[in-house]
Formats: sequence, C-alpha cells, structure tokens
Amino acid sequence: MVNFEDFSSLARARRTNLMIDRSRDVEPAVVQQLCELATWAPNHKLTWPWVFAEVRGEARLKLGNACADVMVAQGEPEPRVTKTRGKFARTPVVLVVGSEVGDSELRTVENRDAVAAAVQTLLLGATTLGLATFWSSCPKGANEAVATFCRFPQETAIVAMVYLGWPTDSPKSIDRPPPRIHRIES
Ligand SMILES: Cc1cc2nc3c(=O)[nH]c(=O)nc-3n(C[C@H](O)[C@H](O)[C@H](O)COP(=O)(O)O)c2cc1C
Repeated sequence: MVNFEDFSSLARARRTNLMIDRSRDVEPAVVQQLCELATWAPNHKLTWPWVFAEVRGEARLKLGNACADVMVAQGEPEPRVTKTRGKFARTPVVLVVGSEVGDSELRTVENRDAVAAAVQTLLLGATTLGLATFWSSCPKGANEAVATFCRFPQETAIVAMVYLGWPTDSPKSIDRPPPRIHRIES
C-alpha cells in the first residue's frame, strides 16, 4: 500500500501540461495500461460507463476538422476555427473519454461522476510514468460530432479530451486555496 506522503507527492506532481514532444510516440500498450487503471474508479451500480478513443496520426486532424466544422456552423470566428483544426496534433495521442447515458437522469449524472474519477485516476497513473497530460473539455456544441467520430454509443457525453505525451518542460506550480470544510457536529 502506498503511504500518504508518496500519494500526496503524486497528486501534487500531476499538472495540466501541454509542453509535450509531439514527435515522441506514446506506445499503445501504455495507453491500454492507463485505460485499464482508469476502470478502477468508483462506479455506482457498476455500470462501467467509460468509453475511450485513442486518437493518433491522421485521425487527430480529422478530429480537429470534425470540431471545427461544428464551430463554422455555429458562426465562430475564423481564427478560432483554424486553430481547432490543428490543435489535436499538438501531442502524439489524444485520448477521448466518454460517459454512456444511464437508465435514469440520476444514473447518467452518476455515470459522469464515475468517469471524471476515472479520468483523474488515469492522469495520476500517467504522472507516475513521467507522462504529461492535459485534460481539455469538448469544444462547445461539438459533443455529438466528437462522440460520432469516436464511434461511441449515441448520446455519450464527452467528459475529457486528454492530450498525452512526453514532457519537454513542466509548468509552474499553482497554489491551492485551503479547503473549505464545514465541520458539523450538532
Ligand atoms: C472538467 C475539466 C475540464 C477542463 N477543460 C480545460 C480546457 O478546456 N482547457 C484548459 O486549458 N484546461 C482545462 N482543464 C484543466 C484546468 O484548467 C486545470 O486543471 C487547472 O488550470 C489547474 O491546473 P493543474 O491541473 O495543473 O493543477 C480542465 C479541467 C477539468 C477538470
């Protein structure tokens, strides 16, 4: 069992980092290992709601185009659209993580919570391997296009688009405000 000090160091070492060597590959076996680790997240009713898409090579540009086309349809400014077309090629792998719809509204929310926990588990695992990660949201309005691109079941919510790669540098630390704890005893 890991001790608190080691786990605390790991949690603090995980940083959102896009300073990544785009020419150095991350082996599919590593991605597989991280996705398996992610499945150890807590999950009410054991619905196993997570679904992963490992996007590499040319597919990264196609994913960018799928998002950009939605942005064009939404009338977004050209510079933002152009940036989006190329942005997934900034790292060798983009791991898209979806959450399947549940059999009730509550279950759908709980599924998404479980998937968020799974993403954090994956990020921590990646940190132990020395990988840099960057959790990005799905571009506004592009959930359906991304889910279709990733061949996810209909209505899958895109929880994270995780940029993954080997770091060229590390970002400055961000201080955390102290936790707000309401100690309620009576
Ligand atoms: C649900 C979620 C969505 C996020 N989406 C984005 C994003 O779209 N763009 C971005 O720059 N960072 C995104 N982040 C990363 C946060 O900005 C980052 O965690 C925060 O700045 C704290 O930095 P740290 O992760 O290095 O501690 C997201 C984080 C979470 C949890």
